[in-house]
Amino acid sequence: SAAEKGGYDYFMLKEIAEQPRAVADTLLGRIGAGGRLSLDEMRIPDAALRDIDKVVIVACGTAYHAGLIAKYAIEHWAGLPCEVELAHEFRYRDPILSRSTLVIAISQSGETMDTLMAVRHAREQRARVLGICNVNGSTLPRECDGVLYTHAGPEIAVASTKAFLTQLVAVYLIALYLGQVRGTKWGDEVTDMVHLLAEMPDKVDKVLETMEPVRALARSLADQHCVLFLGRHVGFPVAMEGALKLKELAYMHAEGFAAGELKHGPIALIEQDLPVVVVVPPRAREVLHDKIVSNIQEIRARGARTIVIAEEGDDSVLPYADTLISVPAVPTLLQPLVTTVPLQVFACELATAKGHDVDQPRNLAKSVTVE
Ligand code: G6P
Repeated sequence: SAAEKGGYDYFMLKEIAEQPRAVADTLLGRIGAGGRLSLDEMRIPDAALRDIDKVVIVACGTAYHAGLIAKYAIEHWAGLPCEVELAHEFRYRDPILSRSTLVIAISQSGETMDTLMAVRHAREQRARVLGICNVNGSTLPRECDGVLYTHAGPEIAVASTKAFLTQLVAVYLIALYLGQVRGTKWGDEVTDMVHLLAEMPDKVDKVLETMEPVRALARSLADQHCVLFLGRHVGFPVAMEGALKLKELAYMHAEGFAAGELKHGPIALIEQDLPVVVVVPPRAREVLHDKIVSNIQEIRARGARTIVIAEEGDDSVLPYADTLISVPAVPTLLQPLVTTVPLQVFACELATAKGHDVDQPRNLAKSVTVE
């Protein structure tokens, strides 16, 4: 009913709007005095976390994209090698795990069969398993050694939005906590990041306030057949997530590529007026940033219609952007929290313009409980 949807036409719109609150709720009670994190609820003792020598993340769909972003955070802040696996690939392989491997299973519903089976596969090899889950009382937490709940609240729309942002918060918390417990060289940065994380609900709110041009853009592209998404570093999984949303909701061909791969294939796809969304890292990451600016020039020279997501005040992209979407300036690793939101709004609006029900896309289920 309309009341359940809080006055919005679709649950997805409501859930997109709830993201600042969802992010805040997932941080709540986990940041202590002086920026020290406390995640005791995880139930994996600090001593065990100090013994970890490798992290393996398993998930499906949007949760897998959260896992891909987690890899950058865990390698950097926790100083641990990290692999990310689609759960349905992992479970049929012979991964090398031990008692000192930390497996992190990410699932909104806690009921995705392949993710649950991947957890069993990991536990048979004595790995410690930590779940990231949004649904209390679901199966995943029971199958894991410990769990960190996301507090997105019920997510009804099939395509994940607020759950994804809270999964990002959860993986940042875990990466920073591992850094804190293990005492890596990034000690000061870890404390700074915890403070910056606390500012993220406001930043996400700011993004939401500026989405009207994104909606107008989406409506203008409703007749397109294909959209490409490019990113580097954590912008690469964001590009994949943007493409997934468009497939799920608008039934359009969409791909997310690592911008560095352009010359190895995707650039052959560029033709006159093809919309290409590019996620630009913060200017502070000069090398990354400048590389992607030249990627934008390259595709534009070949006729692409460039839709550029960059931080506020980044003038360097202006000459090459047909459309510029500005997001608040945040550190590179946290940027997916602000760059994903316009992509959700874009896909939702474009699908609506095509007349699709964004809450119930064809052929898809909210959680895939079969193998
Ligand atoms: C389905 C949903 C996706 C979700 C994926 C994983 O494909 O349509 O939105 O990302 O399952 O679900 P989970 O509950 O494990 O996060």
